[in-house]
Amino acid sequence: MEIKVLGISGSPHRHGNTETLLDSFLEGTHASGGTVEKVILNTLQYSPCRGCNACHKSGDCIVKDDAVILYEKILASDCLAVASPIYTMGITAELKGFIDRQQYLWARKFILKTLYFSDDHIKRHKGIFISTAGLGWDNVFDGAFPVITALFNTTGFEYYDNVIANDMDRYGGVKKHPAALKDAFEKGGKVVGVIEKLKTI
Ligand SMILES: Cc1cc2nc3c(=O)[nH]c(=O)nc-3n(C[C@H](O)[C@H](O)[C@H](O)COP(=O)(O)O)c2cc1C
Repeated sequence: MEIKVLGISGSPHRHGNTETLLDSFLEGTHASGGTVEKVILNTLQYSPCRGCNACHKSGDCIVKDDAVILYEKILASDCLAVASPIYTMGITAELKGFIDRQQYLWARKFILKTLYFSDDHIKRHKGIFISTAGLGWDNVFDGAFPVITALFNTTGFEYYDNVIANDMDRYGGVKKHPAALKDAFEKGGKVVGVIEKLKTI
């Protein structure tokens, strides 16, 4: 049974702490038999939402760019791993700009009522937030959680887990963190097994 895993990196820093943590998670999913695709938001062409509200009537975004193509990929995935470093106590501009573009799906769900995810569907679709932060504060990820929750809610994924590592400034990067990469790998492996089991029920 194919388990499609989509990893999206919202870090503008290629192969930095966040993408490295995402890679470890994705390697774990691959090791457990997942089919993996990784997308780097910074390499795509998309603009922020215009707030034109055309989607409230049509259910479609009038801006035809890479954001719409990536949302189609998200909807076809079983596991969605969304990664962003903490920038100014929230997610990066790249990821926020992309998440705002989900407004046409929100319109389908709540205005036009043409999009519906059953409880079973949501249970079988797992969303994981992956993040790193420079500071060692316990609450450093709190500003990111509500936006990621909104993304998973709108696209039909259960907010399954976080793979987060703070205190990067002190550690000198995620590769020097004692447990983060191993934890990410293990969580990746585990979630594929969980989805596989749920899909056979
Ligand atoms: C513009 C910018 C803003 C940042 N803001 C914060 C912040 O508010 N809190 C924090 O803990 N770290 C902050 N950091 C540090 C990053 O979250 C941290 O270095 C992270 O591991 C970088 O991941 P990356 O290598 O994928 O870019 C910021 C870094 C940058 C470049």
